[in-house]
Amino acid sequence: FQPKDLKLIGKKIVITAGPTREKIDPVRYITNHSSGKMGYAIAEEAARTGAKVVLISGPVSIPAPAGVNLIQVESAEDMYQAVMKEYKDANIVIKTAAVADYRPKNSYDHKVKKQDGDESMELERTTDILLELGKNKKKQLLIGFAAETNHVAEYAQKKLLKKNADMIVANNVKTAGAGFGTDTNIVTLFKRDGTVIELPLLSKNEVAIRILNEASQLLGNEMK
Ligand code: PMT
Repeated sequence: FQPKDLKLIGKKIVITAGPTREKIDPVRYITNHSSGKMGYAIAEEAARTGAKVVLISGPVSIPAPAGVNLIQVESAEDMYQAVMKEYKDANIVIKTAAVADYRPKNSYDHKVKKQDGDESMELERTTDILLELGKNKKKQLLIGFAAETNHVAEYAQKKLLKKNADMIVANNVKTAGAGFGTDTNIVTLFKRDGTVIELPLLSKNEVAIRILNEASQLLGNEMK
């Protein structure tokens, strides 16, 4: 890895990481297993290239890398608002966060008391941040992730087109050593020109470097 090879010095890179929390009441929420490790590794390596890094993170228990501007958020809606604020002058956006697709339709300011018997909860869709970014894309390079448990390539290709992304980083989150919580990942990169790059098991920092190298090349191509 040679940071000087990258064309990222001074570029603004917005990275989202971690899970979101969707409130039910003051003591309960809906979330997922994202630890933030993948997004924080990308932020760390991006900062090393000399880029201006904005890390928009859901609640995690790992420290922010040095030299990044950390914006902490809680819900999918908070993350959406924070990303949109940073989007206009961003050169690259990398959407690593595991954003909740649904939130409780009603949330409460008091603890909901349990009843005898079963209970059900109505859910509503959150904003699809990646989709909105794709719709409002000007010159930004847009990189999304796809966390799948089956049909990984098919779903990733669909996301690439539907979300108007320039690259999708797909991981099969059921494979050992890949996905949530681990220090390693196994990803395949799907690019807009049809190129597919399958990477072996690597540390999340090595995966981050590969993603940034691809981003750097794509940015270079666009600037020509
Ligand atoms: O944090 P770690 O423990 O290190 O785990 C890493 C990871 C598994 C979370 C990461 O590698 C990963 O796969 N991140 C994407 C998780 C995800 O939500 O995937 P998805 O296939 O559901 O979403 C696809 C894309 O849409 C993602 O870029 C996601 O950020 C984005 N999205 C999803 C929902 C939503 N409402 N808005 C979004 O922008």
